[in-house]
Amino acid sequence: MATIEIDGKTYQAENGKMIIEVADENGVHIPRFCYHKKLSVAANCRMCLVQVENSRKPVPACATPVADGMKVYTKSPETIRSQKAVMEFLLINHPLDCPICDQGGECELQDVSLGFGQGISAYKDTKRAVNDDDLGSLISTEMTRCIHCTRCVRFGEEVAGVRELGATGRGENMQIGTYINHAMTSEVSGNVIDLCPVGALTSKPYRFTARPWEMQQYKSVSPHDCLGSNIFVHVRGQEVMRVVPRDCEEINETWISDRDRYSYLGLKHSARALCPKIKKAGVWQVVDWATALNYAALKITTCINQHGQEHFAAFASSSSTLEEFYLLQKFMRHLGVNNLDHRLKQTDFCDQDKLADLPVSSLPFAELENQANIFLLGTNLGREVPLAAIRVRKAQLASANVYALNPVSYDFPFHVTQEEIVSPHTMLTTLCSIVLSCVGGVKKLPKEIQPWFKGIKPTEFSHTVASALQAENSVIVTGFISESHPDAAILRSLVNLIGKNTKAKLLRLTQGANALGAHFAGMLPHKGVAGDALPKPGLEVNAALKNNLTGAFLLNVEPDFDFANSPLAKAAFIKAECVIVLSAFADPSIEEYADVILPIASFAETAGTYINIDQTWQTVKGCVTPPKEARPAWKVLRVLGNLANCPGFDYASSEDVLAELLLLKHGKELNLNDEIFVDAEFPPAQKGLVRVGEWPLYAVDGLVRRANALQESGSADKILVKINPLTAKHYKLGKKVKLSQGGRAITLPFIQDEKVAKDVVWVLNAMPETIDLGAAYAKIAIKA
Ligand code: SF4
Ligand code: FES
Repeated sequence: MATIEIDGKTYQAENGKMIIEVADENGVHIPRFCYHKKLSVAANCRMCLVQVENSRKPVPACATPVADGMKVYTKSPETIRSQKAVMEFLLINHPLDCPICDQGGECELQDVSLGFGQGISAYKDTKRAVNDDDLGSLISTEMTRCIHCTRCVRFGEEVAGVRELGATGRGENMQIGTYINHAMTSEVSGNVIDLCPVGALTSKPYRFTARPWEMQQYKSVSPHDCLGSNIFVHVRGQEVMRVVPRDCEEINETWISDRDRYSYLGLKHSARALCPKIKKAGVWQVVDWATALNYAALKITTCINQHGQEHFAAFASSSSTLEEFYLLQKFMRHLGVNNLDHRLKQTDFCDQDKLADLPVSSLPFAELENQANIFLLGTNLGREVPLAAIRVRKAQLASANVYALNPVSYDFPFHVTQEEIVSPHTMLTTLCSIVLSCVGGVKKLPKEIQPWFKGIKPTEFSHTVASALQAENSVIVTGFISESHPDAAILRSLVNLIGKNTKAKLLRLTQGANALGAHFAGMLPHKGVAGDALPKPGLEVNAALKNNLTGAFLLNVEPDFDFANSPLAKAAFIKAECVIVLSAFADPSIEEYADVILPIASFAETAGTYINIDQTWQTVKGCVTPPKEARPAWKVLRVLGNLANCPGFDYASSEDVLAELLLLKHGKELNLNDEIFVDAEFPPAQKGLVRVGEWPLYAVDGLVRRANALQESGSADKILVKINPLTAKHYKLGKKVKLSQGGRAITLPFIQDEKVAKDVVWVLNAMPETIDLGAAYAKIAIKA
């Protein structure tokens, strides 16, 4: 430790820390532009010059390490003179356009110039002008304002791992840009807006719509992935104007993904459900709430009484709140319905009774960056959970080894040390060989699963991964492809076996923002609240869909986009005689199968709790009131419960719902360990082609799907089929390919891509063009 003095006060500081860090920790402000706590030190703006005793000239506080006995003066005449000189230099070329600049009111340059700028400029020559770049639908540029701090460039190089912005030219001619003009493609590109200290990079959708001082700031949590990134929602009147990150080291550090930043745009979509509607004799009628709720309650109870509880089901988006899950399952279970599920994108549930009560991880998310060996299993990490890719990149820059077993060699923003790219079926056999490499022989495994290993031998890859996972600080990261795998139960067992026989921890990236909340609240067919056993379990989602559904209750889900097999789901709902939809949106495709549409509040409009993958409970309040007649879903469920004579539905607030849930949990020990599942037959070797149907980055939920700027951005997925050149040659494919699944066929453009495993057809799910295809990970046929 070093003892230093800043402005006459003594502080203890860690050796090696920079003066600016110690000053920040102790609340002493030093102006800065290029320094940012999460980026490397560039020391190019010189705004942080401070006087240090015995130094011949002022030193940059961001690039000068503290030394024992150092005396720093941040307010001395020498310091102020230096900072004023730098400010004058920076303002030589910076336009004086604050009144029309979108950064006005929150501009670091504006703030600092108030403190250190001169009232009159001595500079008389023409200012420099720089052409703007078109960075796509999310970020606006005004590059004449750029002060060359290079924060945006360093963010791309160091954090995002995508070098999109760079500097060209020198001195007066230096310019920041993409060089070859193109839209930003990074999933986290919007962070450069917060980093840019001036108005050179601003938010395109937000631009010119509000001033910072007109808005209220509310704390919230983003509901689009399993992290629950911390955000501020900025609101003017009753309108959400923008979303910006809120620092939280354990979750999102100081970043958010573009999905978290711009999804609020979906709130203003023209398809918002604004009033209750019921369908009578095929004709939609707008009605008041009382009529709609009475009609819905009667329709549900009549349907259940006539056809039996086993033909009714309720499905909820895994991004619903804990309170919504709890009330929905309580309502349904009172009516005797146990066909409840939120795991809509999965297909294999045969191990569900052996699994822990919550899909927990053994590694805290933030620890991902401290791992020495990371094994990515069935995950397109950067597209599924963009901020997880940032953590892996950090680990890899600190020399971690990254291994991957996937059906596609994805363009991760980090280097993969070794990967095996195989079809979903071969992923299982590869995992078996890793298990063998870990345990040293099939005889050491439980007898019941020894047949799984017939004919399987360890490989070089399996030995490498196994020995990496035997080391301290190693982790297996499973993602959406693992969860949606057609033999996910076997995959989970193999992962658990590897975990038991190595030092590897497990990080499970679950789908949706609140999968743990759904498990906890009992939004499952086989378990009640907090893992309670049920006397009469219901059917999991796919079995329920195939069980002649006569009625369904849908909470924020759309069959075209949110189910593993969208045609199966849609056909079931169209056939059913009672489909009650609680949704923030009502467009023609929903009207096709719904009988009642109850408009509910969306993100930022309702209170609720999310449990993230670290089991962190985060309760948020609504930031604005829902539009027109829309109401928070928990209130709608409360009234439906009352109308159906369910006892205990007299909640006054969502806090009451949470309190009841916590009371039920009180004193209960959750089972957080998976048992090894041994009752499955190993699937026979795959013949023919199999589809890999990932969910697009911007199609994970209804709100994101309706955020137009995201859909138009450079990072949005384009519809395209990708097939390995060897497979394409075998099937003699031309420029387009006809895909058939489940009796339906569509023709799409395709490219040959060596990164895709052989015998795999990579075609996204949940795109308007692909909603008629069958299951996301199942057999598929192709023709030229
Ligand atoms: S665009 Fe902004 S962040 Fe990038 S170098 Fe210029 S001033 Fe810095
Ligand atoms: S902040 Fe120190 S040189 Fe820029």
